[in-house]
Amino acid sequence: MKAIHKIIITGLMLFIAGGFIIGCSSTKHKYTSATTVGEEFNIEKSGAQLWGEACNRCHLAPSPADYNDTDWSTISLHMRVRANLTEHDINKIEEFLKSAN
Ligand code: HEC
Repeated sequence: MKAIHKIIITGLMLFIAGGFIIGCSSTKHKYTSATTVGEEFNIEKSGAQLWGEACNRCHLAPSPADYNDTDWSTISLHMRVRANLTEHDINKIEEFLKSAN
């Protein structure tokens, strides 16, 4: 093999490897920056916010004072199914309802 061919092949390999490195690092960068934004601005919604949004969709959101803790446990289970909420969200709503009655 001529020396010039070796140089060309080595060059090509470096080019391909370089593409991999840049590709991986830019994906990683996007991921970390999205996570950092979430943490910085704390986009996690409070139980009260979730209650205002989710429980007003079909009927007026009932006031936390309307029911006691035992009732809220039952209602939360019932409305979690109706509203198709995640366990995480309904837990936050339930916590809010029980803390404010
Ligand atoms: C998809 C529509 C829908 C959403 C969203 C919804 N509800 Fe309901 N809710 C109903 C319906 C329909 C009833 C009447 C009872 C039944 O048929 O299930 C009801 C009844 C109730 C009742 C009366 C007691 C009972 O359990 O039947 C309470 C209290 C209540 N909802 C609270 C909530 C809360 C709190 C939320 C938010 C987490 C919520 N609802 C979200 C549809 C909804």
